[in-house]
Amino acid sequence: MLTKKIEQTKKDFTTEFTNVENSSDLEKIRIKYLGRNGTISELFDRLKEADKKDKPLIGKNLNLLRNEITSQINEAKSSFSKQRKSETQSLDLTLPGKKYQIGSRHILTQTLDEIKSIFKSMGFSVHEGPELESDYNNFEALNFPEDHPARDMQDTFFISEDFLLRTHTSPVQIRLMNKMQPPVRAIMPGRVYRNEAVSARSYCMFHQVEGLYVDTDVTFAELKGTLVSFAHQFYGEDFEYRFRPSFFPFTEPSAEMDITCFICKGSGCKICKYSGWLEILGCGMVDPNVFKCVHYDSEKYIGYAFGMGIERIAMLKYGITDIRVFFENDFRFLKQF
Ligand code: DAH
Repeated sequence: MLTKKIEQTKKDFTTEFTNVENSSDLEKIRIKYLGRNGTISELFDRLKEADKKDKPLIGKNLNLLRNEITSQINEAKSSFSKQRKSETQSLDLTLPGKKYQIGSRHILTQTLDEIKSIFKSMGFSVHEGPELESDYNNFEALNFPEDHPARDMQDTFFISEDFLLRTHTSPVQIRLMNKMQPPVRAIMPGRVYRNEAVSARSYCMFHQVEGLYVDTDVTFAELKGTLVSFAHQFYGEDFEYRFRPSFFPFTEPSAEMDITCFICKGSGCKICKYSGWLEILGCGMVDPNVFKCVHYDSEKYIGYAFGMGIERIAMLKYGITDIRVFFENDFRFLKQF
């Protein structure tokens, strides 16, 4: 009986072993035959049932079978592990490469680049100035006299009595005019700072682009034409615009430019505070007091200036309703542009 069982086990193992495809199959049959409760151990247990005279031969055959199974399994094991090693070591140059995620320019950089290229095409050059500015350039030379209430229009981070983080890019006008004689036609982009509570509508740091054109025969009509042309190139043709009288110490007369609200198309909504209009920039004719500070002859020269917030311009174009998203670096926001 037991001899027959041994023969059967041998046959079964051979069939199963030829079907082994990987090391996990191999482990399964190792446990089945050589495991603590496996077939071989069961057969050894049953040795006691055999006749005394047959025991030595059966025992010998059982040992032989166990050794044979063990050596076949070990051999297969080592050939699987060699195969795995050579698989991981060989380099298949024909495989397609890994895809890397490529970043893109930040939406504010893209917006600024677009603004720059529009103004460059209209003959403006690009200049920059420092973010740490003197009180003189930021306020005084721009016709904000000391103790003038207009200074309160912009909450300032003072570094010392005379120095501050610039609250707008207008002081770069002063720097530029101090450096060169008319004609001056430039835009001046950069970061500005205001001591304001952070909210969906305002941030303590943002970006502006300043514009300045000074020559002997500059008109308000040219200012309007330039800004309308900019707005059409940036926002497309599908909007109305208007210039509203306003006040800035460094321009006289001053105005603000509004365009039709993109959200409600002028019928009134939350974004435009039910006016149908969105303000996009401030502008005006350079005040003669400013020319005095940079030693330009205000009898001879005339100029216009304008200033816009880059975040605001981008928010209106892309329907972004919270300024904070520009600075949080949330990948879900950034990768939309
Ligand atoms: N500096 C102004 C601000 O930050 C913006 C501005 C308005 C700039 C009118 C100008 C201008 O050059 O003419 O609010």
